[in-house]
Amino acid sequence: MGQRSSGSWLSVLGAIVALVGGHLALKYGITPPIPSTLLYAYTVIIGIAIYVYLASDTRRWQRFASPIVHLFVDQDTRIARGILFVLLPLGVGWLVYAWGASAAQLPAEQRTIHPTPPGQITVRGKTYNLIGLENPLRKEPDKLVQYTAEGKTIFFENCFFCHGDNLDGNGHFAHGFIPSPANFVDVGTIAQLQESYVLNFLTEEEIWKVILYIYAGAGQSPRTWETQ
Ligand code: HEC
Repeated sequence: MGQRSSGSWLSVLGAIVALVGGHLALKYGITPPIPSTLLYAYTVIIGIAIYVYLASDTRRWQRFASPIVHLFVDQDTRIARGILFVLLPLGVGWLVYAWGASAAQLPAEQRTIHPTPPGQITVRGKTYNLIGLENPLRKEPDKLVQYTAEGKTIFFENCFFCHGDNLDGNGHFAHGFIPSPANFVDVGTIAQLQESYVLNFLTEEEIWKVILYIYAGAGQSPRTWETQ
C-alpha cells in the first residue's frame, strides 16, 4: 500500500493542467477560431500525447497512476471516493445543463415549414387566387427559354444575395438568417410548392420569370395542381 501511494498528485495535476491548458490555448490562442469539432479532435490528440508521455516510462506512469489507484481502490480513501462519486455526476450534469440552457433559442413562435398555401394573397392591391393558378408564361413554350433567361437576371438582381448563385441557399447573407434561405436544389423546397405559391413580390411578370428560372436553374419541376 505504502508503495502505491508513493506517487504524487502533482503528476496528476500536471497532466490535467497540460490537457486543459492545451485546450484553452487552441480555443483562445488561434484567430480566426478553429471549428469546435476540430478543437475537440485536437484536445483528444493532446490527451493521447499526454498518455503516451506518461506511459512511456514505468516510474513516471507509477507516479501518475498510484494516487488514482489509491483513491479508487484502497480502504482508507472510502469517504473521499464516496464524495467524488457524488460530485462527479452532479458536475457533469451541471455542465450539460449549463451548455444546453445557454444555447441560442429560436423565437417561441411556432414555425411551419411550407405552411399550406393560402387560398389567395393580395400583393400591391391585386388579389390572386392561388389555388389552381398556373404560371401564364408556360403557355408560350417557344418563349420559355427567353423568359427563363430574363428570370435569371431578376434572380441575380434580387434573390442571389441570400439564395446563392447555385440556388442552394448559400448566398453571401445566408449566414445571417435562422432559418437559412431555402435551398432550391433540395427537393424539400420549391419542388413541394405549386408555382403560384412562389409568387410574392416584384411585378407580376418578373415574378413568373424568376420562378421559371429558379426551377430551371435548380433542376426542379414545380408541383402540379392535383385534379379533383
Ligand atoms: C434577404 C434574404 C433573401 C432574399 C433577398 C430572398 N430570399 Fe427567399 N428566402 C429567404 C429565407 C431566409 C427563406 C427561408 C424562410 C423559411 O424557411 O421560413 C427563403 C425562402 C424562400 C422560398 C421558399 C418558401 C417556402 O415556403 O419554402 C422561396 C420560393 C423563395 N425564398 C424565393 C425567393 C425569390 C424568388 C427571391 C428573389 C425574388 C428571394 N427568395 C429573395 C431569404 C431571402
